[in-house]
Amino acid sequence: MKKELSISAIKDGTVIDHIPSNATLKVADILDLKGIRGIISIATNLTSKTMGKKGLVKISGKDLTKEEVDKIALIAPNATVNIINNYNVKKKIKVTIPLVINKIIKCSNPNCIINNEEISTKFYVLNKDPLKVKCHYCERNMDKEDISLL
Ligand code: CTP
Ligand code: ZN
Repeated sequence: MKKELSISAIKDGTVIDHIPSNATLKVADILDLKGIRGIISIATNLTSKTMGKKGLVKISGKDLTKEEVDKIALIAPNATVNIINNYNVKKKIKVTIPLVINKIIKCSNPNCIINNEEISTKFYVLNKDPLKVKCHYCERNMDKEDISLL
């Protein structure tokens, strides 16, 4: 009997690869997976030649939005997003942290206008690694530890 089964290739959809193993569930969590009818596979602690251990998320029948790709970049800066078409890798996107982050993170300042009114958040990226951002509205600087996703 074959003792090992690998995660199947997918026909159409998205494969997010090279996720730091301990960030894998968080990546799955930020994606809108409700209503996906295809198979979703999530794997952690896979052996990677370059990363030691890595995680992987495969979603059949879903394309990611720009917002989702940008969110992944904040959690998994070295992730690769592969678009699969008829079993072939149609496109390979290295995620990048944008210079301006719209909507996807919260401001940690309770007095900031964005926590008190219905307006979209907006941050400027001051440094990518380690991540440091500045709120457009209250000008508070936030480090990776202070950043939480909306
Ligand atoms: N993959 C998949 N289904 C397919 C094709 C690819 O699930 N029909 C997955 C592969 O298992 C891999 C990822 O998509 O995790 C990227 O595929 P590929 O580019 O072929 O692999 P690598 O060359 O190893 O990618 P990289 O160079 O980015 O490490
Ligand atoms: Zn603010």
